[in-house]
Amino acid sequence: MQTKNRIIQEKYYAEEKSKDCLYLTHREKWNWMYQDHEALLDIIDKFNVKTILELGTWQGFTAGLMLKKGVKIKAIDICAGMGVVYSHGSHKQTDKDNYGKYARGPNYELEFHDTRTYEPNGQEFDMVFIDANHDYEFVKADTELARKFNPKVIAWHDYGSEPGVGKYIDELKKEGKEIIGFDQSLIVYENTDNN
Ligand SMILES: C[S@@+](CC[C@H](N)C(=O)[O-])C[C@H]1O[C@@H](n2cnc3c(N)ncnc32)[C@H](O)[C@@H]1O
Repeated sequence: MQTKNRIIQEKYYAEEKSKDCLYLTHREKWNWMYQDHEALLDIIDKFNVKTILELGTWQGFTAGLMLKKGVKIKAIDICAGMGVVYSHGSHKQTDKDNYGKYARGPNYELEFHDTRTYEPNGQEFDMVFIDANHDYEFVKADTELARKFNPKVIAWHDYGSEPGVGKYIDELKKEGKEIIGFDQSLIVYENTDNN
């Protein structure tokens, strides 16, 4: 584990380390995220992903990381005052300014919206990364939304740690969807290119 983490650090974080940026501070605090992050970046390479829709961006950590690959990201999230209440773990709903702050830049667009009422408007994305509300009904709805964007790949965070995600993904497996998992990682994905 230690060796692998070091490799990941060298591969993806050398630049951040030199800048001593906030992202690195977060990474050092939450060691367990290493392999999830590596898995996300590997998916981007594997599917030659150029455009990503991120459902649930919070402060923009995963988005900030994925942007290193030169992709364009549209993110959807909710903040305080929208009439949709969300609180989970260390996440407490706050005002707009706290969302996406580690990912801001020309390739990152954040729209405040409840994913359950979001309308695709004909947009397409190479990849949809699902990491919003982890309750079963939300994960299901977000996945059904994700398919409308004609992605090459759908990736979910927190399989194995969040019962709602696990339950829904296991149902997809039973339906015959090929869900691929990363060893010791919380990321799983489905190749939707040939469906
Ligand atoms: C686990 S955090 C996202 C973390 C982020 N992907 C990362 O790792 O850097 C989940 C986010 O989903 C958002 N969320 C929860 N329910 C939502 C909904 N119905 N519509 C849009 N966003 C939602 C929350 O506000 C929160 O910011």
